[in-house]
Amino acid sequence: MKPGPEISVAVVPVAGLGTRLLPATKSQPKEMLPVAKKPVVQYVVEELGRNGVKEILFVTGRTKTSIENHFDPDHQLIRNLRESGKEDLLAELDYEQTEVKFFYTRQRLQRGLGDAVRCARRFTQNRPFVVALGDSIIGLESPTNVVSAMTRIHRESGAACVVAVETVSPQDINRYGIVEPGGDGAEFPILGLIEKPPVGSTSSRLALVGRYVFSPSIYGKLDQIQPGVGGEIQLTDAIQLLLEEGETVVGVRLPGTERRYDIGNFESYFETFVEFALRDPDLGPGLRKRLLERLVEDH
Ligand code: G1P
Repeated sequence: MKPGPEISVAVVPVAGLGTRLLPATKSQPKEMLPVAKKPVVQYVVEELGRNGVKEILFVTGRTKTSIENHFDPDHQLIRNLRESGKEDLLAELDYEQTEVKFFYTRQRLQRGLGDAVRCARRFTQNRPFVVALGDSIIGLESPTNVVSAMTRIHRESGAACVVAVETVSPQDINRYGIVEPGGDGAEFPILGLIEKPPVGSTSSRLALVGRYVFSPSIYGKLDQIQPGVGGEIQLTDAIQLLLEEGETVVGVRLPGTERRYDIGNFESYFETFVEFALRDPDLGPGLRKRLLERLVEDH
């Protein structure tokens, strides 16, 4: 089989309301919450850039303009830093010089993740594309290449969809899309998917982590499905429909050295912040020391 085209387009949905993170997200996007020194979405964009993505379409919504501002080069700020002798801070703005091109479209009504992806149709046209959720960071120890692995599998296998997964604890399955695997290797065919099943209702604990590769055929399925969990158009349901219509969907496990950091709720946001702050080369060692002292005092 001839491999499919290179995949260099990604869709990053950032339109969600972030209600699980109120009041922090009342007037700012959850994707702009800082994790150590950077906003969450900057980690996602840097990950995509390292994995061969050249164009990113953000699907935005109300209160999301700060994301657009964050990725615009700010010449005034650069000039101010130079003139006031703060050259050392200029390196912090290097991400603005990325070769990735940014595009924006707006999801006018909150109809769910599947509907947000549908907003990308005119942009991606008949090209295969990556979807990366703007509230999930993958990696930590070393830069992840899971998206490159997924795009390679998509090109070589002829699958309509490739998804990244990781095992979650039994009490967390109702927070995620859960897949039924058809094998226990690093890559496997998926036999079924269900969005946010009740705790205890599935034999699998393999959860979708917010990285997907799609052929354009996903759009037809998004048009066909009815609203699902929460009354929303669910991306997971459209992938299930691909399967039911005989398409192949492949799952890729995150390697053991990688984890997904979910910034969708305070519990994992707090943990993520602390983990990333502890690994900051300048400030991490001091923070570790003070945290240990505090923990001993509290004990
Ligand atoms: C979405 C998807 C879900 C996936 C999760 C990953 O849920 O619907 O299948 O497991 O992202 O973060 P949300 O977090 O938008 O509720």
